[in-house]
Amino acid sequence: MTISAWWRDAVIYQIYPRSWADADGDGVGDLPGITARLPHLAALGVDAVWLSPFYTSPQHDAGYDVADYRDVDPLFGTLDDFDAMTATAHDFGLRVVVDIVPNHSSDEHAWFRAALASPPGSPERARYLFRDGRGAAGDEPPNNWQSMFGGPAWTRVTEADGSPGQWYLHLFDTTQPDFDWTNDEVRDELEDVLRFWLDRGVDGFRIDVAHGLVKAEGLPDGDLDHDANADATALTPMWDQPGVHDIYRRWRKLADSYAAEGQDADRILCAEAWVLPAEALARYVREDELHQSFNFEYLMTPWLADDQRATITRSLAHAEAVGAPQTWVLSNHDVVRHATRLGYRQQPGLQRIEGIGPDDPQPDTALGLRRARAATAVMLALPGSAYLFQGEELGLPEATRLPGEVRQDPTFARTGGASKGRDGCRVPVPWEDGVPSFGFGPADAAWLPQPAEYGELAVDRQIGRPDSTLMLYTELLALRKELRLGRGTLTWLDGYPADVLAFLVTSSEGSVTVLANLGDVALALSDGADVLASSLSRHDSTFIATDETVWLRR
Ligand code: GLC
Repeated sequence: MTISAWWRDAVIYQIYPRSWADADGDGVGDLPGITARLPHLAALGVDAVWLSPFYTSPQHDAGYDVADYRDVDPLFGTLDDFDAMTATAHDFGLRVVVDIVPNHSSDEHAWFRAALASPPGSPERARYLFRDGRGAAGDEPPNNWQSMFGGPAWTRVTEADGSPGQWYLHLFDTTQPDFDWTNDEVRDELEDVLRFWLDRGVDGFRIDVAHGLVKAEGLPDGDLDHDANADATALTPMWDQPGVHDIYRRWRKLADSYAAEGQDADRILCAEAWVLPAEALARYVREDELHQSFNFEYLMTPWLADDQRATITRSLAHAEAVGAPQTWVLSNHDVVRHATRLGYRQQPGLQRIEGIGPDDPQPDTALGLRRARAATAVMLALPGSAYLFQGEELGLPEATRLPGEVRQDPTFARTGGASKGRDGCRVPVPWEDGVPSFGFGPADAAWLPQPAEYGELAVDRQIGRPDSTLMLYTELLALRKELRLGRGTLTWLDGYPADVLAFLVTSSEGSVTVLANLGDVALALSDGADVLASSLSRHDSTFIATDETVWLRR
């Protein structure tokens, strides 16, 4: 680790390539589109981008089903386009983090095709988790595991001679067979993939399903009522097995071997691990393991002062205990956007993050946006690193009224529509009001329909408008950088009502008092309070309104 270690306080912006910017007009975003729009991020003031997968893929799970880990899918461009994008990002001072999907491949990956063409017990099958079925005829799945997208986690194959054959494990879609990480060939291959992208100059990886690679020996039945996303406190046979940590120790050594000494050039590894409690999650970021791990407990914490205080305190303590910065996040491509989540009544305990359909109760959009701005103003003051999801800087709400026929997330089909899936947060970004596809691309094409209200939230409608969400993000990011808040330490302040989050963040460059009013009554500001920023963009007042966060010069 170099002294400055850029990632410890970096703000990293997630680009979902399908939906950010479309250069060729086919309705799906692409790498040349990203390159052309990078000035937006330079102006916003983030430090890095993280790109969701753009690799060769049949797109059954929007690219999280990788058929070739070393190439770009023609949908998104070419390897040359990738190099051009990376070079442009670096010219803007933006680091580039890419996704790595090591838990499973696509069923169109050459290895899986070879496995299907080879007999049970062959080395080709040993790269995945093939097992004989249960029951006399082997026609029951090998265990009771369920796919995260609904239905059984096992699919039966037909052997070369036409007979019903073995089953293979897929924690996600049928088209996403899980690798067997006890096999050294798998380990070596994925490490080689890391090297491939490191050699191309990437600054790090976001590790998909980082807590799922190693399964309990013997693949025992699990507790079916256990919902890993909502409560991962109990050890389940497919999640958070101790063996995953050995993999990440090796990966850390590999990443460190690329870090150029003295140049603040660490290559970083960030886990997508839905692991609770914070203490268990912190094991992923021990000194010889990963750099970061998304704090999903924070993402799921309701907008209630007691819950917020408890989560923030606990998260900071556990990360600090292992010497890691905390990694804050409020939105991503798998959850309902926070501007919409917060538009519902808040209840103690972890919040629901599942998709919303036209027949579900609809959020209060104005309330959701107001609270989202306040929540972001809390997050961007917290010590550590923060991830933003494309469009949140515009205050985009979830598309909550997508009809079933346009939905593409496999979750929707696999649950017969019972779970709406994640399309609502993946709708293409509006850049310009009043033009086809709101400027997402040159044509009137978008792979998911954009709600009409996205027009007034388009980037061009917000630039330079002081009360816009885009300007709020820009202002908070600049202050955060100037005051080095990400490197600061947090102290809770006494003497405020219980419904107010009140804390001081102090760094080498100064300090800021953050007051977030989650109560029903306005809070008077003391005379002479110097308001640096407000989530409501009214800098001259004497009080803090409900669902407003202010930053005060101390
Ligand atoms: C992760 C990704 C999600 C994907 C799943 C399977 O949770 O974030 O989008 O569907 O892994 O790869």
